[in-house]
Amino acid sequence: MLLVVKAGGRALEANLERILDSVAWAVGQGHRVVFVHGGGDLVTEYSRRMGVEPRIMVSASGVRFRYTDEKELEVFVMVLAGLLNKRIVAGLERRGVKALGVSGVDGGLLRARRKKQVIIRDPETGRKRLIPGGYTGRITSVDAEGIRRLMDAGYTLVFAPLALGEEGEMLNVDGDQAAAEIAKALGADKLILLTDVEGLLLDGRLVERLTPGEARALVEKIGPGMNRKVLMAVEAVEAGVGEVVIGSGLGENPLKALLEGAPATRIAG
Ligand SMILES: Nc1ncnc2c1ncn2[C@@H]1O[C@H](COP(=O)(O)OP(=O)(O)OP(=O)(O)O)[C@@H](O)[C@H]1O
Ligand SMILES: [Mg+2]
Repeated sequence: MLLVVKAGGRALEANLERILDSVAWAVGQGHRVVFVHGGGDLVTEYSRRMGVEPRIMVSASGVRFRYTDEKELEVFVMVLAGLLNKRIVAGLERRGVKALGVSGVDGGLLRARRKKQVIIRDPETGRKRLIPGGYTGRITSVDAEGIRRLMDAGYTLVFAPLALGEEGEMLNVDGDQAAAEIAKALGADKLILLTDVEGLLLDGRLVERLTPGEARALVEKIGPGMNRKVLMAVEAVEAGVGEVVIGSGLGENPLKALLEGAPATRIAG
């Protein structure tokens, strides 16, 4: 099967070695894997070390988000495309997997449009205010042919969530979105989103199965982090990805467990 696997920052921090074991296991089973990683918390840690305090803002609709200015973008590139990406590649190579670390900037594999402006709520006055969008983008295209060529050369690709903007600038993109767009462009059999919870929880219970329509109707009721995943999952399934699995990356062999039907949230048509 062609699997696009994304692991979130906290799952990676808590369980890196076993997640890498699991990717190596999947490759050993003959699956073709594209691996996408998050890592926002690690960026925060290094930003602070470098004296760049992360700027958390509140959007007009009340959602907290992190504002990527030029200085923070530099740390994103250093930490995500650098340290974390190479740590993952080295870990896979140690396990005998021929791994190639890239970001969406490399080869222009992922292209994005920069958010020109965002509306925030001014922390002092509480009034709505327009500010420049910072170095964050929304993915507009994926070079599926380029990715396939690298895969056909035998590489397991490890993607850092950065993309090339319309003016050749580097942009920070959401990891879930990057994974979903790659899965769509490749027509993946499965998109597996490994996170730090078992899946979508509603009223304290795991939601195991959803159609895209059911999932879309629920998005409003889901908290930040997971709501984005569910929305990306819906779009991926509607665009032809066989199934999206949102599940825990904290276990012994997360991919084996999820491929064998462990409890998780599965979205399929
Ligand atoms: N209804 C919900 N069910 C499950 N988790 C939820 C729900 N609402 C909000 N969440 C939160 O979503 C989080 C997962 O998303 P989050 O963006 O924090 O992690 P990630 O995407 O795996 O990592 P990263 O953003 O670093 O790539 C969970 O830890 C949980 O706190
Ligand atoms: Mg997330």
